Amino acid sequence: IKIHLVAPDGAETALEVKPAGSLMEAAVKHNVDGIAADCGGLLTCATCHVYVREPFAAQLPPPGPDELGMLEFAAAERRPNSRLSCQVELTAALDGLTVDLPPTQY
Ligand code: FES
Repeated sequence: IKIHLVAPDGAETALEVKPAGSLMEAAVKHNVDGIAADCGGLLTCATCHVYVREPFAAQLPPPGPDELGMLEFAAAERRPNSRLSCQVELTAALDGLTVDLPPTQY
C-alpha cells in the first residue's frame, strides 16, 4: 500500500509499504523525520503523534483509553484527528493513507 506523510512545510514523503505492522514502524524504518517514537510503540511517549486525514481518520478503529491518555502528553496541538502512529495498524484498506506530521514531537 502507499502511505503519505506530510511535513508542516508541505513536503510529502510517500512510502510503499506492506499492509502490516504500525504506521510508526513503517515511518521509523524509512527514517521519516517528524516521527520520534521514543518508546518504540509501548504507548508511553506520545512522540509518534500524527494528524490523520479523512477519509482515513474515520475508518480507523477509535483510539483506546491508553492512546487517548497519552495524547494528552503530545507536544503539539491536539486535534480531533490526532492519533499516535504506533497504534495505527496498516491494513490493505488504508492504501493512500495520508497523515500530517506535527511541527514538533517535544
Ligand atoms: Fe511511543 Fe507511540 S511510539 S507512544
